[in-house]
Amino acid sequence: MRAMSCKISFPNTDHAPVILTTHTPLADELTVQNSPILFGCRTGICGTCLVTVTGEAPPPDADEQELLDVLAPDCPNARLACQLDLTHDLKICPYGSPDHNSNSV
Ligand code: FES
Repeated sequence: MRAMSCKISFPNTDHAPVILTTHTPLADELTVQNSPILFGCRTGICGTCLVTVTGEAPPPDADEQELLDVLAPDCPNARLACQLDLTHDLKICPYGSPDHNSNSV
């Protein structure tokens, strides 16, 4: 079976999109050099990687949802970047960036 890939883009930043194999953990591929997203624990605990996501992604698991309910209670497309399971192309913005609510079109 052919490995599929996803294009992960970062609207309104000067970071080029990255092409990743599906199900690759973002935190494994994005570094300080190539990512506008900051990571901390990379295990879904600290909330540093809070982002808003446009595109199709599997729903958060119970632990991620619990943290999202605390950190971004009014933002249905908020996610923890380190917990995203890549299955489709996504647009990702750091949560709280000026454009984080305007990328849904
Ligand atoms: S890096 Fe800590 S929750 Fe994602």
